[in-house]
Amino acid sequence: MKRLLSGIQPTGIITLGNYLGAIKNFVKLQNELEDIDFLVFIADLHAITIPQDPQALRKNIKSLAAVYIACGLDPSKVHLFIQSEVLEHAELGYMMQCIGGIGELERMTQYKDKKKRHVEGVTTALLTYPCLMAADILLYDTNIVPVGEDQKQHLELTRDLAIRFNSKFGDTFVVPEPYIADKGARIMSLIDPTKKMSKSDPNHKAYIGILDDINQIKNKIKGAVTDLDGTVKYDEENKPGISNLMSIYSCMTGLSYEDIEAKYNGKGYAEFKTDLAEIVINEIKPIQEKYNELINSKELDEILDNGRDYATYLARKKMAKVRNRFGIGRKIK
Ligand code: AMP
Ligand code: TRP
Repeated sequence: MKRLLSGIQPTGIITLGNYLGAIKNFVKLQNELEDIDFLVFIADLHAITIPQDPQALRKNIKSLAAVYIACGLDPSKVHLFIQSEVLEHAELGYMMQCIGGIGELERMTQYKDKKKRHVEGVTTALLTYPCLMAADILLYDTNIVPVGEDQKQHLELTRDLAIRFNSKFGDTFVVPEPYIADKGARIMSLIDPTKKMSKSDPNHKAYIGILDDINQIKNKIKGAVTDLDGTVKYDEENKPGISNLMSIYSCMTGLSYEDIEAKYNGKGYAEFKTDLAEIVINEIKPIQEKYNELINSKELDEILDNGRDYATYLARKKMAKVRNRFGIGRKIK
């Protein structure tokens, strides 16, 4: 049996980038892989490395849980839980800080980016965040971690920390592998296709939210930046706008870039965009309907309770071993 684990931060709206780059892949893996144990969590401890409004955070945690299931994660196949409800994440996160070096943390690209954006008061946890992420993964003997391209460096660090711990204290952790799907790995902004589509973009036209109003989605796709050349052709370097829209099209339909080029040969961007809007809306509408059914349901709480209990069971067993390896406290039999 292989264990898979991944998490997303509950920091506001879930974008089409999150959906295509992360959640849709989780659903695919859940359905296609056999003999797996799949844990998916809501990374609320990661979210508070940047100041959050407590009320909004609570709302976003529940919302992300409902989005996961509405997008097709099946609670009978995946254990869904909230990170902070399994206390061992913070405990092992601290221990990872005890073996991680400041230098290697300061080299993380995401830290450097976020530090630039949050000049007034960078928290200590923003720097040590990859230690917590390593803990999330190593706590469960995870073999495979499906993530977007931007998380690759954190995965490398996780591997380094696992190897370091194992060689210092004896074999304890499984060294995980990242799984990065090639398509959808990087969906770009609709306004500036050289930048990643991000929910923190101040311009709302730059991203599509999975819970956006249907008309809004139509308008955002219509307004997406392209070029003056007018041919539907995949060329990331010279035609980043249309290439990005083609990658969304391809992720949604399974058609290759060549298929799409052939289909729109001699046709303009307007027709392509109208079709793309319809494709996106057809996929998102049922997700929104399911979301509305779930968001205030008892069922959602039961799913999160079950996930928490299962994760806690695994995490406690692992932590007993890690505490013994470190030699802290009294020996746990
Ligand atoms: P974040 O929104 O940064 O917390 O990311 C949550 C997950 O979605 C991670 O696995 C990211 O790699 C993925 N993700 C976020 N934005 C994009 C994007 N524009 N394209 C593809 N994947 C993304
Ligand atoms: N750091 C990830 C992100 O920002 C979220 C995350 C936290 C995660 N812990 C994880 C992803 C463990 C995979 C495995 O997207």
